[in-house]
Amino acid sequence: MLDQLQALQTQALADLNGVNSRADLEAWDSQYIGKKGQLTQMLRNMGSLSKEERPVFGKMANDVKGVLESAYIERERLISEQELAQDLESGAVDITLPGRPNPTGGLHPSTRTLRRFYDIWGDMGFQVYQSRDIETDDMNFTQLNIPPHHPARDMQDTFYTTTPNVILRTHTSAGQIRAMRELGGDGTKPLRVVLPGMCYRFEQITVRSEVQFHQMEGIAIGKNIRMSDLKGTITEFIRRFFSPTAKTRFRASYFPFTEPSMEIDVECFLCGGEGCRVCKHSGWLEIAGSGMIHPTVLRNGGYDPNEWSGFAFGMGPERMTLLKHGISDIRYFWANDLRFLEQF
Ligand code: DAH
Repeated sequence: MLDQLQALQTQALADLNGVNSRADLEAWDSQYIGKKGQLTQMLRNMGSLSKEERPVFGKMANDVKGVLESAYIERERLISEQELAQDLESGAVDITLPGRPNPTGGLHPSTRTLRRFYDIWGDMGFQVYQSRDIETDDMNFTQLNIPPHHPARDMQDTFYTTTPNVILRTHTSAGQIRAMRELGGDGTKPLRVVLPGMCYRFEQITVRSEVQFHQMEGIAIGKNIRMSDLKGTITEFIRRFFSPTAKTRFRASYFPFTEPSMEIDVECFLCGGEGCRVCKHSGWLEIAGSGMIHPTVLRNGGYDPNEWSGFAFGMGPERMTLLKHGISDIRYFWANDLRFLEQF
């Protein structure tokens, strides 16, 4: 009997080695250790053994049962692993394929430049004031010392609306008086504001001029503000925007709303001042108009020009973006060509 048990164990383990599926495993189980299995049969037949043999046989049969049960569990684990591996293989996804990119939008180059402006002017203590695109010709011209028949009105061709005296602003200077009146506390508070916004001119569209473009106006009003403050402030701004070594030049000019007036040039970044096509061989690029605020304008804004003084400037973000990135044509800005816009 004991030999039979031993043989059974050997046979069962050998069979189990060939079992590779769950169905075969169940069959093996019922053949050997299930209710009608061979081992169970042998245990049932124990009654025919003598008293002395019975415990010896019982112990050995239990050992065999233990061995076969552990072998069963181990085999089941192996089969599960194989099944999982097969499952993974049949459902495999080729993860080496590149994904499909989702195109995302970006900021318009002018928006980027304007935001850079806000950062720099903000750091220098200027607050941003949003004025209106649709203006009265009073604000756009008259209050800025450009009376109805002043020849300076010819400097800009204007989009008029069907409402008398209502126009699209031709420059952000139109917001100067509004900012002074709204923030100046009836001419009692110093002021440092920048006024960004779109401007409109009824002009021929060329590589250098568009019918719409941004400007960024700036005004600083206080006691004892002088031309040196204007020059220092603008020079610092240009260094921060273009490069720490950027050179700046101020040229005498004329604007009705400033006295004296200046135009501001930066050294041409392309040729380093040597002279090239972009700077029309002058070595300099014009980027802004500026000056000391005219006493009449200060007065219109509520300030007493005997006590207060200030400087103003107006610069063109598209112009400056163009210069900074070596873009040759201002018309790209509103042409909505993604090949251009996606470069920023
Ligand atoms: N408004 C002027 C223009 O559109 C630019 C300008 C010049 C603004 C001088 C100013 C300034 O504030 O002081 O050409």
